[in-house]
Amino acid sequence: MCGIVGYTGCRDAFPILMKGLHRLEYRGYDSAGTALISAQTGSMNVFKARGKVADLEAVASGKDVSGQIGIAHTRWATHGAPNVANAHPHLSQSGKISIVHNGIIENYAVLREQLKSKGFTFKSETDTEVLVQLIEYTRQSLGTDLADAVHIALTKAIGAYAIVVMDSDDPDTLVAARCSSPMVIGLGENDSEYFIASDASPIVEYTRRMVYLNDGEMAVCKRGEPLKVINRDNDSVSPKVKNVTLDLNMLDKGGFPHFMLKEIFDQPQCLRDCMRGRLLPDHKRIVLSAVTEHSAELLSAKRFIIVSCGTSWHAGLIGKQLIEQFCRIPVEVAYASEFRYSDPVVGPGDVVIAISQSGETADTLAAISLAKQKGAMIFGIVNVIGSSIARMADTGTYIHVGPEIGVASTKAFTGQVTVLTMLALALAKEKGTIAEAQYEEIIAELQSIPDKIEKVLEQSDSIKALAEGYVFCHNFLYLGRGVNYPVALEGALKLKEISYIHAEGYPAAEMKHGPIALIDEQMPVVFLATHHQLYEKIVSNMQEVIARKGRIIAVVTEGDEHVKNMVYHTIEVPQTLNCLVPLLSVIPLQLLAYHVAVAKGLDVDMPRNLAKSVTVE
Ligand code: AGP
Repeated sequence: MCGIVGYTGCRDAFPILMKGLHRLEYRGYDSAGTALISAQTGSMNVFKARGKVADLEAVASGKDVSGQIGIAHTRWATHGAPNVANAHPHLSQSGKISIVHNGIIENYAVLREQLKSKGFTFKSETDTEVLVQLIEYTRQSLGTDLADAVHIALTKAIGAYAIVVMDSDDPDTLVAARCSSPMVIGLGENDSEYFIASDASPIVEYTRRMVYLNDGEMAVCKRGEPLKVINRDNDSVSPKVKNVTLDLNMLDKGGFPHFMLKEIFDQPQCLRDCMRGRLLPDHKRIVLSAVTEHSAELLSAKRFIIVSCGTSWHAGLIGKQLIEQFCRIPVEVAYASEFRYSDPVVGPGDVVIAISQSGETADTLAAISLAKQKGAMIFGIVNVIGSSIARMADTGTYIHVGPEIGVASTKAFTGQVTVLTMLALALAKEKGTIAEAQYEEIIAELQSIPDKIEKVLEQSDSIKALAEGYVFCHNFLYLGRGVNYPVALEGALKLKEISYIHAEGYPAAEMKHGPIALIDEQMPVVFLATHHQLYEKIVSNMQEVIARKGRIIAVVTEGDEHVKNMVYHTIEVPQTLNCLVPLLSVIPLQLLAYHVAVAKGLDVDMPRNLAKSVTVE
């Protein structure tokens, strides 16, 4: 996913654009660029760099970066290699129109051939350059203004886009448009300035008044004039202005070396925020507005289908176990990318739960769009307020863990699991499938989880020391059972995506059906061995590994001397109820992955090849 920033107003644009790109760099970062209409010459100045925003700032240093209007972009390559030629902004043939784009134009090849036949030439391999040339061709051939040219050109483009377009012949105006990729517009005082970005984080320090564009909408941001929004049919739309409250210091590292470590340590407070107003221990109840407002549909559901990707899919596997255990409603968990192309048997009576931190993951968005068309109810469990998935869902519950900047998801995972736990309990209470005593016991224990996470976090330094012994490993095996099986998958994903060490999560009992052949003294094996109903089985699985000289790191319930005397290293977590174990057992795995990656000297917050949110297929 790419990051977009635009500005038109009364201030110098360049500093605003660069600061905004830094805030968005987590979204994708293999190249960056900016275009400004010079206050000195009136011409379009474009600067691009391979790499990060700091590289772009170095390229622009000492050059003419004047001007009160500009656009900027950080790229995560989809079409064409990550290099300067393919970096955005892209210019039209005349050099007068520039564009930044997040998304994919599916029919760009056809459009490019049509434009070539009209004499257009191309400098890059990107779909984005085709779009800006199409806008220029439309403007020239029809003699329209910029906004109309953009609107007409987009009727010919098929795919996903969030774009900002600028024209040196119209130096007060930015035109923004979106379809499937996010776009937010910040409103300055008295229409004097406009801030445009992929999400609220680059805008919120200047204004909290924001308009989230909807799919098919296009905005004309002309400084000194009111915002104009039109839809696909060219009808005017009255923009809905939201007052966005975003805690800026959440966007800074707060003294931690990496966003990821800050977010791991933020989890106790984030889960308190997630439960606030929903988990009412004094009243021994859980109140979720989505359940209150839609209880009839939710309780009469034939089944739930959870669609998500990556870490969110792992959270879904835990949600399945909790909802089936407490509500006795069948739950399927599907990779969104598989669900959307499987011609799924889904329809009225089904509830499809979309779990997504960003709320912009293309596969998940497409999956719920398909399910919605087929008549299912869509329930969103999302972190980013106002994101596309949140707005497409019929209802849902935000996880409220604050912006997650680190590409490797940590606090969002525990936030998702917390919401799924509250959802399962609230539904079970409504259905009468949970005994009052058990309901109250879990509520009381859930309230204590943030404090228990803090106890696990105290072991960060000892886990760091442990991690340093594994930097040269090439493979890891993570094994768990029951609710700890998805935690094993999540631990493996954390390690591989930030340390680049191959790691595989597996149901512990399944190890005998093949993976045990991998076990030798070179293969570290991480066991989730907390006290719960399958504990004895896990211990025998560990014996099988020990018999083959496997080196075990075990996550155990504190005080477990038995396992401690069996294995190479144990990491203790406080005792808790089985259904809440994942909220504790995942913490050591997050820390282990983090410390191994740091010991390897890797860029933990921006791992190679990854982006924070995958808004392309
Ligand atoms: C998790 O650490 C990864 N960054 C990735 O698997 C992520 O969970 C996945 O892309 C889904 O993102 P979402 O939750 O924003 O939809």
